[in-house]
Amino acid sequence: ANPEFMNQPQIGFKLDGEEVFAFEGETILQAAKRHGKEIPHLCYSDNLRPDGNCRACVVEIEGERVLAPSCCRKPSEGMNIKAESERAVRSQKLVLELLKSDMPKQSQSPYTLKSELDFWAEKMDVGTPRFKGRSQPQADLSHPAISVNLDACIQCTRCLRACREEQMNDVIGYANRGSHSEIVFDIADPMGASSCVACGECVQACPTGALMPAGNVGLQEADKTVDSTCPYCGVGCLIKYH
Ligand code: FES
Repeated sequence: ANPEFMNQPQIGFKLDGEEVFAFEGETILQAAKRHGKEIPHLCYSDNLRPDGNCRACVVEIEGERVLAPSCCRKPSEGMNIKAESERAVRSQKLVLELLKSDMPKQSQSPYTLKSELDFWAEKMDVGTPRFKGRSQPQADLSHPAISVNLDACIQCTRCLRACREEQMNDVIGYANRGSHSEIVFDIADPMGASSCVACGECVQACPTGALMPAGNVGLQEADKTVDSTCPYCGVGCLIKYH
């Protein structure tokens, strides 16, 4: 369990028929994981603030009409939650299928990346998406350390949160609305012209390979070893991220 919650009071609830508990402050997803049950998730990452934007983690809560994102929702005493009901699983799979339909096609050789999205789609038996993907932007190879392939971006904002909240850099932003929404660098600059310091945090956070070490745009297995260019910031720690 996350040590942050360990000394907190326990809240008992039911998860897929099993009596479990959450420490106060824990979300349904975190408590489920601690009890050995993995709920699909993409925009959630252990060390980032939950954002609840992908909806891959939805669960059914008895008495509520709308499915709830388990990464943001905290259980209350006596709740009856179903992560594996037919309705919850159908929604989880539909989200994964829609996101997968927008990915660069595996058949378009040599795209062979195994991403977190691929992992969950396989685990949930999603199969070949039935939907036509959107037309997507060209890769941005302007940065010396990081390749940008927004073709594979699911707009989960993990990169944005990692850049802003982990590194306090605030280079990555979210622009436009609806189907025009997109990840941007500074004010929609090519990444190489932005104020990015190449710390590599966004590459680590990305669940699909939209951000990769330079030279890896959709070409390789997800080896995310990236030489941090921290000397730029003057500290010179030369971290290698894995
Ligand atoms: Fe919960 Fe994305 S993981 S909404």
